Amino acid sequence: MEALTLVAVALALLHLGFPLAYYAYLKARWLRRPWSIRRDPSYRPRVTVIVPTYNEAKLIESKLDNLARQDYPRELLEVVIVDSASADGTPERVEGWARRNPGLVLKLIREPVRRGKAFALNMALKYAGGEVVVVTDADATWSSGSTLSEALSWFSDPSVGAVTCLKLPAGSGAGGIEGAYRSFYNVVRLAESKAHSTPVFHGELAAFRRTLLEELGGFPTDVGADDSHTATRVALKGYRAIAVDSAWCVERVPPRGYHSWRVRRAQHLVQHFTAILKHLWHVPRELYKILLVEVYLHLFNPWILVAATAILLYLMFNPSTVALALIVLGTTLLAFKPYRTWIMTQLYLVIASIRNLWTRELAWRKQAKC
Ligand code: GDD
Ligand code: MN
Repeated sequence: MEALTLVAVALALLHLGFPLAYYAYLKARWLRRPWSIRRDPSYRPRVTVIVPTYNEAKLIESKLDNLARQDYPRELLEVVIVDSASADGTPERVEGWARRNPGLVLKLIREPVRRGKAFALNMALKYAGGEVVVVTDADATWSSGSTLSEALSWFSDPSVGAVTCLKLPAGSGAGGIEGAYRSFYNVVRLAESKAHSTPVFHGELAAFRRTLLEELGGFPTDVGADDSHTATRVALKGYRAIAVDSAWCVERVPPRGYHSWRVRRAQHLVQHFTAILKHLWHVPRELYKILLVEVYLHLFNPWILVAATAILLYLMFNPSTVALALIVLGTTLLAFKPYRTWIMTQLYLVIASIRNLWTRELAWRKQAKC
């Protein structure tokens, strides 16, 4: 085999082997460890749940129904809807719902112009009286009536600064948790959380200690992944930012425009991890390892796949039968879903990094989700 072929093979092995090794390490070392957090299951802080909305008329009422089904004590719960100039009657639906459900403390804030989700959240923060602030997307469902109680009980330990849920794949019925529990991403989120903190949070349920949000000056308006970035900043302050397996969320996936949706979210993650680079000094050891790996996985690893493929394509036309065989192998493997999903994710990240050069998508196009 030529030297260049060897280089390509080595790069491909690094690309696939590194995340697998990280997964294996997390699973063996952290996943089954007990939490080094003292949780009081009966702890119920005052909470403000913020739902940002932009053209969510179709979903907002079922979202509010889902919130109203939470078993959280009513006197400790307030909901703030912050709407940014929706044109589809979202605020009117909220007002109608509030009239029919007077038992829930609900505030509606209307921004006259849309500036993006983070601006809206910062506006809502001014009205938040809770000790903990929970942000949840209008298109997200909490899987059980105790999701909020479960998530917030972790704040009984003063070292916890932020909590997020794990994600159930949409459409998974009973028993869905079993399958989702073992999925690559949920294992990584949970094990990172046990080691210290996870740098990827979910907009379906992102809870923060309010004093920490205030110290950070609110949510970042220059980084798209407001939830993940805020959680990581909380962790960098020395607090734990954790995903817990007692809180599960379901997210609606847009039936149309799926690829541009994935690219935009990848753009936000790339922005987040790029912004984290400048904070990597004086970080607790376990957190440092996690951040270093995740920065590598999001910003650099996808490009290693691009490099390996480019070399093999070049050799294939030169011509090299070994290169041709490897390209055929790599393409054939796309028939297997986990591999295909992985490769697609890498492509989204690559396209995202390029697209970030001219647009950051901080006030993104609304995608129909039902
Ligand atoms: N008030 C307000 N103003 N809300 C907004 C705006 C805005 O300009 N833009 C979006 N939202 C609301 C949506 O109505 C929804 O409730 C929530 O923010 C998330 O927006 P989606 O359109 O559902 O986007 P997503 O599911 O792809 O968003 C995910 O990724 C984002 C980062 O890329 C979620 O995890 C978000 O929380 C996350 O910010
Ligand atoms: Mn969404």
